[in-house]
Amino acid sequence: MADAGEDIFMKHFKALKRKCPPADLTSVLDLDNPGSFTNKISRITPKGVSADSMFGLLPVSEWRAYELLDVPGAIIIRNPFTEMLRRYFVCRCLSDYPRQPNISNLDTSPRIYPEIWQAGCHPNSDLRARKYLHKLRWVTLGYHYDWTKKVYSQESCNDFPQDLSTTTQHIVQAVLGESCDFKAEAAIVNFYHLDSSLSGHTDHSEFDLAAPLISVSFGLPCVFMIGGQTKTKVPQALYLRDGDVVIMSGKARMSYHAVPKVLPKNVFSAAKKSDTPSSVDKNTMTSTVNPKCDDECSKRSHCEEFTEHSSAKKVKHDADTSCFTQLINCVHDTEFWKPYETYLHESRINLNVRQLFEPGKQAKDYCWPTTDPAFNFLTNST
Ligand code: OGA
Ligand code: MN
Repeated sequence: MADAGEDIFMKHFKALKRKCPPADLTSVLDLDNPGSFTNKISRITPKGVSADSMFGLLPVSEWRAYELLDVPGAIIIRNPFTEMLRRYFVCRCLSDYPRQPNISNLDTSPRIYPEIWQAGCHPNSDLRARKYLHKLRWVTLGYHYDWTKKVYSQESCNDFPQDLSTTTQHIVQAVLGESCDFKAEAAIVNFYHLDSSLSGHTDHSEFDLAAPLISVSFGLPCVFMIGGQTKTKVPQALYLRDGDVVIMSGKARMSYHAVPKVLPKNVFSAAKKSDTPSSVDKNTMTSTVNPKCDDECSKRSHCEEFTEHSSAKKVKHDADTSCFTQLINCVHDTEFWKPYETYLHESRINLNVRQLFEPGKQAKDYCWPTTDPAFNFLTNST
């Protein structure tokens, strides 16, 4: 379906993607330093109350959230994660989510290494295994996506990870209100390296095109672009950094968007944020869990608090993966965390979470498109 009129989006995409001569990035909005762009954004105050007690996210009152005035409904939250939850999800994206029966780009032929991360994550891992890990580009969760036919598959579906669905629901409710009952039913985990980009597209394969899209970034910063519902509108480009969340809601749900460029780690050399969990995190977490938390609580470790809170909130972990609490305990360990941090120095992870069905509806209420025969073969062969 070609849009009538000039492809302005593509023009901007190419200009920002350019390597030689280097792209002019002066039109890219930096939420940490908006300068002359202040008229392009409005600060929004997350209104949900339940998210105040979401453990592992900073208190909602501390979130910095903005809406793009030229793209109403496009909301960016600057890293609302505590360092602990950030590490937790990075580990899940690299060591758990790529496991079968989830599907990755490496599954078009039998996997050379079934455990992609575990085989290739160490500097002294076998070179072939390291190259294999470097080739990991995407993993699908929940209802798997057939990239050839651009449809979701009814047959190929796994339980959606509870941790990711709980967290995304809290974020959506905090920003869009308690009445927005977002249900994570499918996700694509994208793995980018410095030379990667994602060209302009809309996400339109979901049955519900009104429910928001939630996109979480970890690791290297990037330039993200978002425009209108056709490619004829001038898009807004902005930097996304480690931990940032983009919500595409309302009219922006069907906006064209793209990632023309991944940037090196030191590009914002003035960035001061520490890479290790800080005392600030600890204090924040205590108040996040329970505002009434007193001395007794603050004496306990993050892990104990996390465990208690997560069981209280019934956050279940996938049975086939390391348990939630175990992983939380592990991410504090410098040795355990090191390979993940190394990966993030050279790569960007994007967790793109979608609701497929309209409120009150389920899979059986829809007429599903057929998936590619090769895709069926792939998903039945595990
Ligand atoms: C997607 C997508 C954006 C990003 O996977 O559909 O738009 O920030 N990703 O990587
Ligand atoms: Mn998209």
